[in-house]
Amino acid sequence: MKHLAIIPGDGIGKEVIDVGMEVLDAVSEISSFDYDGELFDIGSERYLGTGELLTDEDISSLKKKDAIYFGAIGDPRVKPGILEQGILLKMRAVFDQYINLRPVTSWFPLVPLKREVPFDIHFLRENTEDFYMGAGGTFGGSRKNACVKVRREMYDLEMELKTKSSNNDDFAFEIGLLSRKGITRFADYAFNYAKSRGESDITLVDKANVCTHIYGLQRTIFEEKAEEYGMGLKFMFVDAMAMAMIVRPETFGTVAVPNLFGDILTDLGAQIQGGLGMGGSGNINPKGVSMFEPIHGSAPDIAGQKKANPIAAVLAAQMLLENQGYPEEGMMLHKSVRYCLDNGLTTPDLGGKLTTDEVGKAVCRYILNQKT
Ligand code: IPM
Ligand code: MG
Repeated sequence: MKHLAIIPGDGIGKEVIDVGMEVLDAVSEISSFDYDGELFDIGSERYLGTGELLTDEDISSLKKKDAIYFGAIGDPRVKPGILEQGILLKMRAVFDQYINLRPVTSWFPLVPLKREVPFDIHFLRENTEDFYMGAGGTFGGSRKNACVKVRREMYDLEMELKTKSSNNDDFAFEIGLLSRKGITRFADYAFNYAKSRGESDITLVDKANVCTHIYGLQRTIFEEKAEEYGMGLKFMFVDAMAMAMIVRPETFGTVAVPNLFGDILTDLGAQIQGGLGMGGSGNINPKGVSMFEPIHGSAPDIAGQKKANPIAAVLAAQMLLENQGYPEEGMMLHKSVRYCLDNGLTTPDLGGKLTTDEVGKAVCRYILNQKT
């Protein structure tokens, strides 16, 4: 019996997670997978009522779960950043979910690209470091040394900028930080992941021609790891990668990408595979509590209208099942999505006429029919 935390969150998060749970129920009817789901009221409503985001109590309850199934957060009544940082980013940090797995698969015939060549890119986005840490952090030696060094760099930068300007300018800057520990575990995960998919190399995306410090260190460690695993390593600058994803997506398999560039490239990836409604996302701590979510947001403009495409939530449930040791059941969900697309059983964003719930029912029907 798996113990799942269910966090529908805001907007269409509730509608698509309802479908996701029906789908998990259908899976449990026909397989050895079994679960209980505890609902957590985390999101904008509670925040607006009590001011609470992700509380210590939430965290200690979530810690006891096998995995978290998450809908979406975001509400036009709340200033941007508050819910994202206080809930989603905090969750990733507290549970140290250092890998963000985002598959980009061509769901033919949805692919908006002119070249109809199938592709299956698996993005592994580093999920805890880079420009997502807030300013400051630690590197080499003690925390104190790190802080002194950061301050010195800030001072030099400020002096340089001041001498260039006669005005009393304002300055703002953000620190992107990568640690040896963070890069090493990221690289280990990426090479093992590619190996498990039968691939002989991985691609590492960066901007090492500009941000030479952080991405230089990352390259060095990935090179060491490539040798250790006896695997190939290709480098791509992020701007070139954005182009390559459009002109030759079929040439990529496992792609490791730092946090901020990964955020951007995986939205591009969602579009080339058929839209945000088709992207599942796993925030993974291989030894801890992982969280699975559709990559889309709360879409307040269509919330409550039963128009939301639940497929991304179904694909997130697929990842959850695989992560929890049920790969065959996960594959069944993948095939159920194929079945819906092949039969035009889709929501309006994919040209269909069905509601969120009706797509859910079609997925469940497919699963129940797999009973042997
Ligand atoms: C994502 C989202 C988040 C991110 C936001 C909501 C903080 O865009 O999951 O990709 O930047 O990671
Ligand atoms: Mg994003």
